[in-house]
Amino acid sequence: MSAGWASGLPKEPDPQPTVTPTEPSPTPRADQSALPGIFDLGLVFVTGKGGVGKTTIAGGLALAAAQQGKRVLVCEADSKGDLSSLFEVAPTTFDARQVTDGVWAMSMDTEASLREYLKLNLKIPIMGRIGPLAKAFDFVATAAPGVREILTVGKLCYEVRERNYDLVVVDAAASGHIVSQLAAPQAINELVKVGLIRTQTDWMLDILSNPWKTGLVAVTTPEEMPVSETLELAARVAAETTVRLAGVVVNRVLPELFGHSEEAVFEELRQPAAVGAMSEAAGGDVEPVLEGARLAVTMRRTRSAHLERLRSGLDPSTPVLLLPYLFSRTYGLRTTGQVAAALTEELGV
Ligand SMILES: Nc1ncnc2c1ncn2[C@@H]1O[C@H](COP(=O)(O)OP(=O)(O)OP(=O)(O)O)[C@@H](O)[C@H]1O
Ligand SMILES: [Mg+2]
Repeated sequence: MSAGWASGLPKEPDPQPTVTPTEPSPTPRADQSALPGIFDLGLVFVTGKGGVGKTTIAGGLALAAAQQGKRVLVCEADSKGDLSSLFEVAPTTFDARQVTDGVWAMSMDTEASLREYLKLNLKIPIMGRIGPLAKAFDFVATAAPGVREILTVGKLCYEVRERNYDLVVVDAAASGHIVSQLAAPQAINELVKVGLIRTQTDWMLDILSNPWKTGLVAVTTPEEMPVSETLELAARVAAETTVRLAGVVVNRVLPELFGHSEEAVFEELRQPAAVGAMSEAAGGDVEPVLEGARLAVTMRRTRSAHLERLRSGLDPSTPVLLLPYLFSRTYGLRTTGQVAAALTEELGV
């Protein structure tokens, strides 16, 4: 399907405008309520602190969008292999492969991306690995920050520009690294004022800074550190990139197991006389059971406080989607379906 991200790199300005005439002129910090929802974007980066559920949410979003009739590409940026297990398929590669109805999956590989670029633009025939060239590339990539990021972002923007898919979902770098990745075309643009490189970063920036086309989804959990990191990320994204924060997903939200009246009952049951009577009737110590119930209530309460802190620290127009804790022993297509259903419901589509 994809002929290679660099194959269409314009020698002349992009003939296909990324902003359609009916769209109002893009203001990156425009009020979210006037902007398209996540499923109606063309490119969505999913980020968050390590382990919060980025891959799970990226896979769930891709499946949910496909269920809405979209053709979706989901790309794992770090090729850890977690994405393939969400769809119960063999490990993903740089070449996108269909993994379920409406969803294609790939993993990013900057060397393969570079190889495509060289093959298609400079007509250098490259068989297999690029050997010494890869070493040179490593050298350049290390010496010039932004090269690796451009190869990643460039490939993804290319898929959007060519409209090979309705939506490209990226299981992106963790929040610590995403800002430099999203800001790379801009940073290079500032360094290079004219020439081929400028032409190559301009069209990427057109896509990235168009809030009707591109959005960032931050995944967090209702805990202290992930919430703090999300608020810092929101501020940095606004200050240092042209990408809009299209939503925050709060993952692993605990269900409300007990209401206020049940809590009052626990408190009564925790009285020594009640504990004694119940332990006798049960033929064992019931105190750990009561402690467990109390712990569930306390955890939910403290998590609600973190959730409140998150909401009050974000721009009120940023959608906050809550995803329940999934009590499952195994994670695969079934749980990805549950995540997709929950996200669809939260997005109200
Ligand atoms: N809502 C949920 N309920 C229960 N477990 C979950 C939930 N979401 C994710 N998990 C589990 O948490 C673990 C981490 O999730 P995932 O791999 O999606 O996180 P990640 O942010 O991509 O991690 P990494 O930073 O390592 O890439 C996985 O085992 C996943 O199955
Ligand atoms: Mg992951």
